[in-house]
Amino acid sequence: MEVFTSVKSLRNFLDQQILQQKTIGLIPTMGALHEGHISLIEASKTDNHITVCSVFVNPTQFNNAEDLLKYPRTLEADCVMLENAGCSAVFAPSVEEMYPEPAVLKINFGSLESVMEGASRPGHFNGVGIVVSKLFNIVRPHHAYFGQKDLQQVSVIRRLITDLAFDLKLVVCPTIRETDGLAMSSRNRRLNDEERAIAPHIHRILTTSKNNLLAGKPVKDVIKSAHGEFAGIKEFTLDYFEVVDVKTLMSIESIGAEDSNAICIAAFLGPVRLIDNVVF
Ligand code: PAJ
Repeated sequence: MEVFTSVKSLRNFLDQQILQQKTIGLIPTMGALHEGHISLIEASKTDNHITVCSVFVNPTQFNNAEDLLKYPRTLEADCVMLENAGCSAVFAPSVEEMYPEPAVLKINFGSLESVMEGASRPGHFNGVGIVVSKLFNIVRPHHAYFGQKDLQQVSVIRRLITDLAFDLKLVVCPTIRETDGLAMSSRNRRLNDEERAIAPHIHRILTTSKNNLLAGKPVKDVIKSAHGEFAGIKEFTLDYFEVVDVKTLMSIESIGAEDSNAICIAAFLGPVRLIDNVVF
């Protein structure tokens, strides 16, 4: 596995691969890798000759300076995991390499970013859109892999690919969970023992809510019960709990066809903000 820190050296390597007609899969990450990220590497390995994983904590997508500062950075351990997973190349640029000049271009995703993560984290999806566009242009992948864990991010990237005519296929991979249901996340390692023990309530409440909706309970009642459940666990501060159409991300009053509905949650557990969702 090769590790590149400059755009030029990565491009040179990939030029050789493209000349040899190799197909390229890209997995953009911010590092602090876990089995969720590795599942994307595995998916890419089955579809492509070459798998490139980028590891870059992208400052432009953080609207909270403390969150950016505290974001775990574990490049050495990440490289060991990627090597063991059979990744072909890692792209780990510095901030200066990725942003030789501050990006002035702004990407506005319209209604897709006026809700949930977009509403709670102003500027977040602009930063994601800019960095992912740069990565697509640098790597020129045939396939790009993203996790359903970040459902709204997937919608935004789908829009980015369509609107800017990126010539690649988006592959969405299922959320990988701990055995107690907690969605794997780089932020989980910032939870203390007590918070870690409480965190699986997020998935439990998501599952109960989904089952209640499938059993015909009205959406507004399910939302009310979920708010009540979170209020009953003092360590949680619920940011949002939304029942939405999976395509538009707009709130719905009654559920639609199979796989067109999603419940999305963001909650603070102590200082750590966790997100999760179910699609059904
Ligand atoms: P990061 O949070 O590191 O996530 C990288 C990719 O891994 C994303 O596509 C995310 O959805 C996926 N992922 C995270 N946890 C997962 C899990 N438990 N199961 C399956 N997939 C999971 O998302 C970002 O970084 C950044 O916004 C990025 C796209 C890299 C742009 O900076």
